[in-house]
Amino acid sequence: MFDPQTYSQRRQKLAESVGGGVVLLLGHSHSPMNYADNYYPFRQDSTFLYYIGLDQPDLAAVIDTDSGRTTVFGHPPTVDDVIWSGPQRSLNQLAQLTGADLAAPIRSLQRSLDRAKKQVRPVHFFRPCRAATGNWLTALLGPDAEGGVSGELIAAIVAQRLIKEPQEVAEIESALEVTARMHIDAMRLAAPGIVEGVIAGHVESLAIAHGARLAYPCIFTRHGEVLHNHSYHHKLKAGDLVVHDSGASSRRHYASDITRTIPVSGPFNERQRTVYHAVLTALEGAMEQIRPGIRYRDIHLDAARSITCSLQQAGLMKGDLEESVAEGAHGLFFPHGLGHMMGLDVHDMENLGEDRVGYDTDTQRVNQFGLRSLRLGKFLESGHVLTVEPGCYFIEALIDQWQQQKRHERFINYAEVRRWCGLGGVRIEENVVVTPDGHRILGPPIPRSVEDVECACQTELN
Ligand code: GLY
Ligand code: MN
Ligand code: MN
Repeated sequence: MFDPQTYSQRRQKLAESVGGGVVLLLGHSHSPMNYADNYYPFRQDSTFLYYIGLDQPDLAAVIDTDSGRTTVFGHPPTVDDVIWSGPQRSLNQLAQLTGADLAAPIRSLQRSLDRAKKQVRPVHFFRPCRAATGNWLTALLGPDAEGGVSGELIAAIVAQRLIKEPQEVAEIESALEVTARMHIDAMRLAAPGIVEGVIAGHVESLAIAHGARLAYPCIFTRHGEVLHNHSYHHKLKAGDLVVHDSGASSRRHYASDITRTIPVSGPFNERQRTVYHAVLTALEGAMEQIRPGIRYRDIHLDAARSITCSLQQAGLMKGDLEESVAEGAHGLFFPHGLGHMMGLDVHDMENLGEDRVGYDTDTQRVNQFGLRSLRLGKFLESGHVLTVEPGCYFIEALIDQWQQQKRHERFINYAEVRRWCGLGGVRIEENVVVTPDGHRILGPPIPRSVEDVECACQTELN
């Protein structure tokens, strides 16, 4: 946890933004795999972590925005808890850790909410992402839990969590120290004959060894054209290209999210190098533009322009560059967005609504293939932490579909594209904080240039 003042100051700010009534924050419970006592590793709700910081199941908190007082609700520990789960903190100790005013047994939460309702004071809450927490909310608030989500609360939380405190950026950078090791080791381990899972397992072991976890399931695949490929059963072959997207989370659960693309046998072949270079040029061009006041959608479109230009030079695309980008022809190769906000969640706060985080009244989501998958489109501000992750893929099913539909024939050389099928995909991803006068790439450098990646891939892990 951070110090108690961090949490009380965050809550005070939230109370000022919401203005009136009480805010109900529900923590997560254990999430069973298939029966109650066999559960997934515990992960606290991120908003609860942000305002309360307590990292254990079955807690709730009520912030009275009028008095400024916070009550933490939980189960007073029993001897059974100590037997099965080790030493436990008392509720008062938990309240102290988060700078709360009061601690109370969880059974009194209902009374506290009923009292607020009786006094006709608004109870602000958001709909939890997990069904079990949603059921708890419904049990506490009745039918109000369905319709009464507080847009005011969500807007206040999003506004506050979007601007990262220096200590939050430091957490992300501590996660990136581990992530850098994960990626460098993976480059050194990737070799013909090794099964993907051996390297994915090593990557995860590094996160655990550092007292952390992965922020999301590792992608380590020779089929990088499958964007969310979580299978690891292929044996690597000479000439393969592997997409490796993985990031550790810090001990306080801040995420990192890095992608590198690895030539298994060391040097890239000519086509791989061409595509890698296209993606790298788009990435570096995009990062250069990051500063407060620029719209991220414009940077995304510029990356699309850059990739289109490179693919035209390679003979895969053709026609007028501006028209091609305006019509979205590059979506065949680059079907996802340039990036997303990152923080306690790898896609930060998406449970509160993707558009509430990445868009606003000045920037609405565009429903064009490719652009509609852009999670972050709005103007950047100092303190935003985001990813930059252009990619270029050869997705046969999509190529088949578009070619049959004669889609964007003016801009795509389908005959040439067919020759490149089997290359898989290339994605390169960095994490960046927006600063008052520009940006800073977070974490230690991880090989990224063609030469540095080839060199790391040709070095053995000692
Ligand atoms: N690793 C998830 C993403 O890049 O968005
Ligand atoms: Mn990402
Ligand atoms: Mn990623």
